[in-house]
Amino acid sequence: MKTSIIASFSLLLFCAFSRTSQAHLRERREAAPEITVTLKLDWNVTALGKPIPPSYTTMVPNGTVVMDIMNKAAAEDKEGPFNLYESTYYAGLGYLITTINGTGHSQNTNSYWYKYDEENVSIPCGGDSYVPHNGSTILFRFTADPYPNNNKSANGYCVSHSTPSQEPPSAITVTIGMEWNTDVVKKSIPALYTTKVASNTNLKEIINKAADKNTKGPFNKYSTTYYGGQGHFITAMNGTKEDSKTDSYWMIYDKKAKKLFKPFVDQYKPQDGSTTILKLITGQEPDPSCGCNFTGMGLVVLCLLISVETLWFC
Ligand SMILES: *[C@@H]1O[C@H](CO)[C@@H](O)[C@H](O)[C@H]1NC(C)=O
Ligand SMILES: *[C@@H]1O[C@H](CO)[C@@H](O)[C@H](O)[C@H]1NC(C)=O
Ligand SMILES: *[C@@H]1O[C@H](CO)[C@@H](O)[C@H](O)[C@H]1NC(C)=O
Ligand SMILES: *[C@@H]1O[C@H](CO)[C@@H](O)[C@H](O)[C@H]1NC(C)=O
Ligand SMILES: *[C@@H]1O[C@H](CO)[C@@H](O)[C@H](O)[C@H]1NC(C)=O
Ligand SMILES: *[C@@H]1O[C@H](CO)[C@@H](O)[C@H](O)[C@H]1NC(C)=O
Ligand SMILES: *[C@@H]1O[C@H](CO)[C@@H](O)[C@H](O)[C@H]1NC(C)=O
Ligand SMILES: *[C@@H]1O[C@H](CO)[C@@H](O)[C@H](O)[C@H]1NC(C)=O
Repeated sequence: MKTSIIASFSLLLFCAFSRTSQAHLRERREAAPEITVTLKLDWNVTALGKPIPPSYTTMVPNGTVVMDIMNKAAAEDKEGPFNLYESTYYAGLGYLITTINGTGHSQNTNSYWYKYDEENVSIPCGGDSYVPHNGSTILFRFTADPYPNNNKSANGYCVSHSTPSQEPPSAITVTIGMEWNTDVVKKSIPALYTTKVASNTNLKEIINKAADKNTKGPFNKYSTTYYGGQGHFITAMNGTKEDSKTDSYWMIYDKKAKKLFKPFVDQYKPQDGSTTILKLITGQEPDPSCGCNFTGMGLVVLCLLISVETLWFC
């Protein structure tokens, strides 16, 4: 009895995770056969003073991109190395990883993360575009000395990550923008961007579309931290970073409803006719829309506070 309850509960959990991380894949490739893929990390242990965690092997539907495999690893193991990885979105390239479990480029190293296949061949596209083949290993290597280009092509292939240019059948009109206090961030507020997308499109896809459409625009090169089971959390937009020292945090702001949401861009789905603002809340300034003082508050407190006046999911 007890076992079966636990079993069905785990099944439910498993389904919930699969649904979030692979929902879009499922829609498109219902019956794709499962393939086996391994994710492996590598760095100079002496230089970093950190052991290399064991590799992660899993089965995924054929056609799954590397990033969804990382996200699956993150959802399954919150203590594992793929939880809380950071990446920056570049139009045309996709997400490039900047840190994995806290390891990333710093002033005193020339090291960066590079991705290779099992034959040390460099992977030519972002993690959201690269599709590995059955039995392959993806090597994430943090190094100042990348493997030379050996003129071979990687074993997997790159898919286009950009959103289709045709208007979707059930299109809705959405507007996105950005706001901050121009006394704190000395950059002018960029223009709003309005577009038509399929209903149910999440904010991440809309931002990526804006970035892909205008690579010089303000939505290109945004950075996120990935939280296993929850998704991409905005930490910077075009170089304007959240900062715990000044209590600055990016939030999603629904301009019509005057409500703030945590910046998990793949969970948030703007509605038809809505205006969604990525808003940098700065601690020094009380936020006029809710009259609260954000100084010195961590995200948990922030979250609790906002749950009082709006729908909340934590
Ligand atoms: C993937 O490779 C494994 C081991 O070679 C094999 O057992 C499995 O059938 C392959 N999967 C598909 C979908 O071909
Ligand atoms: C690893 O780092 C150590 C210390 O920085 C250095 O002496 C050594 O040459 C490095 N090893 C490799 C293989 O790069
Ligand atoms: C996976 O999909 C690719 C592209 O559609 C195909 O070439 C390959 O044979 C498939 N692999 C398996 C194991 O089904
Ligand atoms: C992640 O980094 C922390 C801090 O360096 C370390 O204690 C932990 O073991 C790392 N986790 C994995 C899975 O490597
Ligand atoms: C990849 O490079 C490493 C380090 O140079 C080497 O030990 C390994 O044999 C290489 N693997 C392949 C398949 O070339
Ligand atoms: C790679 O290809 C280029 C030209 O396409 C050639 O000049 C170069 O020598 C090749 N390098 C290796 C390591 O084969
Ligand atoms: C992006 O940031 C850079 C550097 O601060 C700035 O020069 C540029 O105008 C910004 N781009 C947009 C579109 O806001
Ligand atoms: C916000 O709260 C901090 C202490 O938590 C206080 O020092 C600061 O003056 C407050 N700011 C405003 C605008 O009320």
